[in-house]
Amino acid sequence: MPYDPVKDVYHDAPPEEGRAPEPRAYAPLYRVTPPESVLIPITKEQVEALKRQSQNPLRARAQPPPEVPRGTVRPAEVPIGELERTTVATHYNKRREVGRDARESSPIIPLKRFNNWVKSALISMYAQVGWNAGQGARILELGCGKGGDLRKWDRHRPAVMVLIDIADVSIEQARLRYEEGHYRWAAEFFAFDCFRRPLDEVVPRSLLEPLFDTVSMQFCLHYGWDSEENARTMLSNAARWLRPGGTLIGTTVDDETLLARLHEDEHAVSFGNECYRIEFDQRLEPGEKPFGNRYHFWLLDAVDNVPEFVVDWAAFTRIAEECGLHLVYKARFDEILSDGYANRPLRQLLERMQVIDSNMAAAGVVTPAMPPAMWHVCTLYMGFALEKSVDATA
Ligand SMILES: C[S@@+](CC[C@H](N)C(=O)[O-])C[C@H]1O[C@@H](n2cnc3c(N)ncnc32)[C@H](O)[C@@H]1O
Repeated sequence: MPYDPVKDVYHDAPPEEGRAPEPRAYAPLYRVTPPESVLIPITKEQVEALKRQSQNPLRARAQPPPEVPRGTVRPAEVPIGELERTTVATHYNKRREVGRDARESSPIIPLKRFNNWVKSALISMYAQVGWNAGQGARILELGCGKGGDLRKWDRHRPAVMVLIDIADVSIEQARLRYEEGHYRWAAEFFAFDCFRRPLDEVVPRSLLEPLFDTVSMQFCLHYGWDSEENARTMLSNAARWLRPGGTLIGTTVDDETLLARLHEDEHAVSFGNECYRIEFDQRLEPGEKPFGNRYHFWLLDAVDNVPEFVVDWAAFTRIAEECGLHLVYKARFDEILSDGYANRPLRQLLERMQVIDSNMAAAGVVTPAMPPAMWHVCTLYMGFALEKSVDATA
């Protein structure tokens, strides 16, 4: 009595030539349990309830955006600018600090660890942390979020940090984190839009001078690249208060990779996988709209369809040069992994943070310890370092 697993039927006898076999009702011959003891399958509602139980209760469940049909263009009906800032600030304000344990149970923890390692690597390789011999460096962080990088900076014993973010709730959480960390250096916190307002309108001059040794902008640039005016305000905020020889370090979405992925399909306005989704307002060619080329970004357990803008790298370096900043390093995250692996302390940090697959590393292959779909998100980003020219006037 052969069983056909595709049709889920038993065939009593081989089918006659040219005749389909008679299906037979499911009737197992050797039962282990009585028929009435069969378990009722779990319902969809029960599955969802179980998922909610094992999920961080402080976090709203984000849904990926629906697939956008190929060729559809999201109308740019809402004016670029004000709304995005409110949306971004509201989004980050809503994502409350959940504590270390909850953070560690995130489904994208390998990605978060990797991003943290990249930031540590950029700080180690390009931050100016030893300017005032023995006195520690002065650090300015723009778009600091909830202060997730405080501990990374602490390893370099800064003298003072000034931290700014548009999201006031995030800034309060950063301040709390600083207080709970009992750091032995001073920090000041401010909530305002550093793409729209010059720093000295809000931050007292006594905190802006002496000039900073390093300015850090991690995963923030793409929120403010809506107009040339705002991009200039941001870059001059970073450059104006940086000492000659000081560095601006940061991470953002790599425009080349972003647009290359969009153009893999000749009609698409969106792409992604189970970990992330990007949906553009319009399909534009690289360089066609250097400011205000908007898309919405969804990232599993982290970002809920928040508006971002393509950071046109040619425009970025041009304005940076005008502000007296010249490029010393730019690399996509996969390249930073290779560069960092060549550096012994960074390699040890990679291993401690479980960012790479240790078995593969032992065999001589540096592979990220995460599923390919998650790695696809990481390789969308790049890190950079710019140095303030010694003769800059800005
Ligand atoms: C992805 S989070 C990164 C936070 C932090 N830098 C990190 O690496 O963990 C981006 C941060 O940029 C902030 N941000 C976005 N636009 C901003 C603006 N115009 N001025 C200041 N902060 C801004 C957001 O509120 C958010 O906290």
